[in-house]
Amino acid sequence: MHSLRSNVPPFIVMDVMAAAARIEARGGRVIHMEVGQPAASAPQTAIRAAKAALDIGDIGYTEALGIPALRARIARHYVETHGVAVAPERIVVTTGSSAGFILAFLSMFEPGDRVALANPGYPPYRHILTALGCEPVLIETSAATRWAMPVDALLDAHRRKPLKGVLVASPANPTGTMMRPEALAALIQAAEGEGIRFISDEIYHGLDYAFPAETAAKLSGNAVIINSFSKYFCMTGWRVGWMVVPEELVRPVERLQQNLAISVPTLSQIAAAAAFDGRDEMDGVKHGYEENRRILVQGLPKAGLGEFLPVDGAFYLYADVSHFTDDSFDFAKCMLEEAGVAATPGIDFDPMRGRHFIRFSYARSAADMREAVERIGAWLSKR
Ligand SMILES: Cc1ncc(COP(=O)(O)O)c(C=O)c1O
Repeated sequence: MHSLRSNVPPFIVMDVMAAAARIEARGGRVIHMEVGQPAASAPQTAIRAAKAALDIGDIGYTEALGIPALRARIARHYVETHGVAVAPERIVVTTGSSAGFILAFLSMFEPGDRVALANPGYPPYRHILTALGCEPVLIETSAATRWAMPVDALLDAHRRKPLKGVLVASPANPTGTMMRPEALAALIQAAEGEGIRFISDEIYHGLDYAFPAETAAKLSGNAVIINSFSKYFCMTGWRVGWMVVPEELVRPVERLQQNLAISVPTLSQIAAAAAFDGRDEMDGVKHGYEENRRILVQGLPKAGLGEFLPVDGAFYLYADVSHFTDDSFDFAKCMLEEAGVAATPGIDFDPMRGRHFIRFSYARSAADMREAVERIGAWLSKR
């Protein structure tokens, strides 16, 4: 028998990927817009650094909190990008942002603690919290607050039963929307004023098109920031990310990391430190996403999908398909089978309204985006 806490729901996007693979095995062509993963590879600077380290061959454990040179490089990134000084001692290198969530939740929350999340949102937030015995509290978002978590809804939930934490992402997944700096500042202030821990998932930073993304590190010394090399730096499989934690959490997080992981893969840490020198290359990849975004924002309405949330950042477009269906899972399945375009049904991200939405990921080529728009248009015109 497995434990109750391991009884987390599957990640539906994985099922879409499997269905797409079956079509491809039969010789069919699928345009992949389901996976939230860059098609480009890591910066050449990172790959070269990893190769050089392999030639030396000395790949042992590192300090639990990460290689000092990488922690210092990340600290410098905050000065360069956001104009804010963050002490390298407050930076913790993690095995992707995924491990950052586990360290953050374990270091701050007890079983039974309630943690607010924006709905729709990235499914593992609620599944990791549940596996750790915490209670995810979904806070609805809407166009009224530009799909950001409303301050009053957070405070209402806290009054009903006290919250211990709140987690938001900007740019967000699945919506691709961003919080205005004032909205982020107001939410942090409201949360911290009530003693609610603030966690900011900044994994899509660097991929902002509508306006520059603000880091919570600039707004509060007590917020926990979670970030990763997976998205902007195209290093998903390297499994390396980082956290910025308040001073009093450094030692608890270090103890947890020592016991849970010993350290983060050394080769990936070496590559990550060098990745910062590959920003020109990565900005080129970002410009590709901007072009993809333009193709979709202009093309999808002509193809029949005219309603979507603000396409501010990351590489996602969250489209309302309620005038076609009440069942986004079935809609995505038919679109895959009949039009050869794979997208993710909204129910993965929002148990309630998700049946009216699908998420497109635009992290591949512009040619794919143009073809997808054409295929969707032809398919919808026959529906
Ligand atoms: C919002 C968000 N946070 C975190 C992650 C986890 O990424 P990683 O563990 O590769 O850093 C993802 C991955 O898609 C994501 O979309």
